[in-house]
Amino acid sequence: MTNRVALAFSGGLDTTVCVPVLEEEYGYDEVIGVTVDVGQPDDEFEEARETAEALDLDHHVVDAKAEFADLCFDAVRANADYQGYPLGTALARPVIAKAILRVAEEEGCDGIAHGCTGKGNDQLRFEAIWRASDLEVIAPVREMGMTRDWEIEYAAERNLPVEAGNEGTWSIDTNLWSRSIEGGDLEEPDHVPGEEIYEWTTAPSGFGEEIELGFENGYPVSLNGEAMEPIELIEELNELAGSYGVGRTDMMEDRMLGLKVRENYEHPAATTLLNAHEGLEALVLTKEERDFKQQVDAEWSQKGYEGLVDGPLVAALEGFIEETQTKVTGTVTIRFEGGQARVVGRDSEYAVYSADAASFNTEKVGDITQADATGVAKYHGYQDRIAAEAKRAADAKRGATDGDESDE
Ligand code: ARG
Repeated sequence: MTNRVALAFSGGLDTTVCVPVLEEEYGYDEVIGVTVDVGQPDDEFEEARETAEALDLDHHVVDAKAEFADLCFDAVRANADYQGYPLGTALARPVIAKAILRVAEEEGCDGIAHGCTGKGNDQLRFEAIWRASDLEVIAPVREMGMTRDWEIEYAAERNLPVEAGNEGTWSIDTNLWSRSIEGGDLEEPDHVPGEEIYEWTTAPSGFGEEIELGFENGYPVSLNGEAMEPIELIEELNELAGSYGVGRTDMMEDRMLGLKVRENYEHPAATTLLNAHEGLEALVLTKEERDFKQQVDAEWSQKGYEGLVDGPLVAALEGFIEETQTKVTGTVTIRFEGGQARVVGRDSEYAVYSADAASFNTEKVGDITQADATGVAKYHGYQDRIAAEAKRAADAKRGATDGDESDE
């Protein structure tokens, strides 16, 4: 019986080298390459297809864009970011891992492999999904301690289809939700990157444009009054907000293993939708809900970063989120200017807001008058005043005693 292994395949150096390695070093008869579409640019699929053909690799391409876009919108409901990064790569990994696992099981594979190194987050995110199956989980790059130079030499010896310079100056990971740029000169935290690292965003300018986003139950549903599906809306906003330089992040990121790395990201749609969503929540949620939801959102984000969005904690957090989002329906006006996607207007039938109550021109709302605040004002800061008084008295007493002692 032939034994088969499914490999997460991009056509880049790492995964190309993994193909013969899985046969020669791990003893598999057949390797299946799986590329999962989460919104990468077309040329990445071309590269994967061409390389697969040259390797004579059985190659599967799985479209998981819709599933991924839905997860991105769950992230919007949770206002999700990790240290300022809206989790594009992190959220895509479980989607990719599940799609590859489905192919592996359909094709009767015995093993499942990725080309991640032993330094990053992705190995953990993939394996968290795969280790729930009976398949042998293989990480050749990590397990064999491969270095880039070793891979290049190995590829040259075997005449593998890797073009020199194929890998580019930086390591880039692109999907619907973000474009991540790392490595090369960006590894120096004090190196100021030039405009050339950016592809989705043009340099921010002061010039502005306003758009209106519609939400239903916390999900983004329309742009300027026109209903849109998640993928379409994300793609449209990446283009539009990107043209105003919205959604650039240059950060030091604490990876799960503890390594600090310098990361650059572009995420125009994510920034726009997250800002708009938070702006609408600010109108419709009570202060108590907003305060508590921040903690829920932070937990969701942490699990999102770790690739554990399918775990029971996230399901429980989403129970709370779902309840709050029943009111997050309405519209938000966003202005793109100076590289920002700023909330400049919001409207909802669920607004926890009374213009009458807040107005300077209304004396009485219901049976509440201005004078009713007097009692509250008298008590406000009451403990602080008692504390200050007590301290004054105690200090005076101690000062007197200290004086007595020094006299002796
Ligand atoms: N550090 C990010 C994360 O773990 C993204 C890394 C993307 N990879 C890349 N080669 N640019 O989520």
